Amino acid sequence: MAKVLLINGSLHTGGFNQQLTEKIAALLGERAEVSVLHWADVPLYVQNQEFPAPPPVARVRKEVQAADALWFVTPEYNHQIPGGLKNLTDWLSRSLDATNPRGESAIHGKLTTVSAAAADGGSHVRPLLEDLLTFIRTQVLREAAAGIAIKPANWASGTLECSEAEEAALKQQATALLARLAAAG
Ligand SMILES: Cc1cc2nc3c(=O)[nH]c(=O)nc-3n(C[C@H](O)[C@H](O)[C@H](O)COP(=O)(O)O)c2cc1C
Repeated sequence: MAKVLLINGSLHTGGFNQQLTEKIAALLGERAEVSVLHWADVPLYVQNQEFPAPPPVARVRKEVQAADALWFVTPEYNHQIPGGLKNLTDWLSRSLDATNPRGESAIHGKLTTVSAAAADGGSHVRPLLEDLLTFIRTQVLREAAAGIAIKPANWASGTLECSEAEEAALKQQATALLARLAAAG
């Protein structure tokens, strides 16, 4: 069964993107082997600390390498990718071979897809993250990238609620991802 690794760009425990991550895991259900990447301990990227990789970096790289697809879920900060998530992707983009800076990275060639829970649904961050993931040589599933807007009532309750259209977009994204995985064998 295909392995899907969920990567939440927010470290907000119980936050909107964590709720979205759980929703996606439930949506994929038995149709994939789903796990969630824990990356809070990944340090800031520093070039002269790359080899050997710090243990948290080595761990997240191993989990990414073991996955068939990566489903990113992210908030939007000032119309941008949150700094922590950008730092994580910088580590994941680096060559694993100290003698060849253009060598394969842990994320190279992975199938990736993006969703967001943000005040405006992440209309800025979703394409930015897709472009970054393309640049670091992943295969981005661009035809579906669900954005969930945090409604006024959600801010008050702390609970993420999806509209019918948002639910449908998420389901379509899951279906598209599973279809691509099945086609890849
Ligand atoms: C520094 C900062 C900047 C933000 N900028 C935006 C923004 O540009 N667009 C947007 O839709 N939401 C913005 N927000 C709201 C976040 O998207 C919202 O807090 C986030 O979805 C919460 O998700 P979480 O509970 O998973 O952390 C911003 C939040 C913070 C903390």
